[in-house]
Amino acid sequence: MRPKAELHLHIEGTLEPELVVELARRNRIHLPTFDVEAIRARYSFANLQSFLDVYYENMAVLRTEADFHDLAAAYLRRAAGQGVRHAEIFFDPQAHLSRGVPLNVVFDGLSAALKESELSAELILCFLRDRGAEEAEQVLRAALPYREHFIGVGLDSAEVGYPPSLFRKVFEIAAGEGLHRVAHAGEEGGPDYVWEALDILRVERVDHGIRAMEDPQLVARLRAERIPLTVCPLSNVRLRAVPSLRDHILPAMLDEGLLVTVNSDDPAYFGGYVDDNYEALRRELGMTDDQLDRIARNSFEASFVQARL
Ligand code: ADE
Ligand code: ZN
Repeated sequence: MRPKAELHLHIEGTLEPELVVELARRNRIHLPTFDVEAIRARYSFANLQSFLDVYYENMAVLRTEADFHDLAAAYLRRAAGQGVRHAEIFFDPQAHLSRGVPLNVVFDGLSAALKESELSAELILCFLRDRGAEEAEQVLRAALPYREHFIGVGLDSAEVGYPPSLFRKVFEIAAGEGLHRVAHAGEEGGPDYVWEALDILRVERVDHGIRAMEDPQLVARLRAERIPLTVCPLSNVRLRAVPSLRDHILPAMLDEGLLVTVNSDDPAYFGGYVDDNYEALRRELGMTDDQLDRIARNSFEASFVQARL
């Protein structure tokens, strides 16, 4: 299997229905159903928000350090089986703090799993853009005592209506701490969100970024500066950002000379882990081995940390 890095992966989005049920039993949490297939049957989404509603609801089962450890350990095992050699992993501390789960529980559980893994793996702390800039700054300050546990900050959750420019200050603070910076932009939002992420947040990578292709000047900038884009094809289909994989703009992005990578985003919800995304591109879009090898090489070039290969 082709070696690759995974750079756009929400650890909470790897929570498989089987683990939802196991953790609910372990933590004595009531679920509307304990039937794995019934849980999975809900995973049909009209847009990003309809997915986020289920994603946040399922997280209620994550309570203890052992839960976060087991979540990350399961992902790292599956990723290794899909050829992943290095992963830069998003997590959403506000989604846990707001449920009364303290930061040390999240950091200790995730970090222990990363340390045990055969993969090289790092954490990127994401701000939930729909909870606003003030709370983002509070969570960053609260996380700074754990500075050695994460390499960067990101911006995720509901995109439209929450432009990157709202988060200028917290990204400046992060830059001052020597943290890497990424942001989801151009998933549902337009090219203006990608411009703001670059110009105002000074991001070093753009997550998704597929709508950047609507603006030739932006494409020229991304190409000239070799700014990586972490594209998630199966996610885009499941969240209806594109009508079908056959309509995906990824081959055109590659033809434009952009530094495109392929990633799984929230694999427990979108029907596949990272190599399943590569395989779907081959099957549905006829992408060649040469093209897929190039994408895999891009993933290492786009990594913040060089993998221990
Ligand atoms: N959080 C988890 N997955 C996400 C996505 N695809 N877009 C925005 N926020 C997310
Ligand atoms: Zn994402």
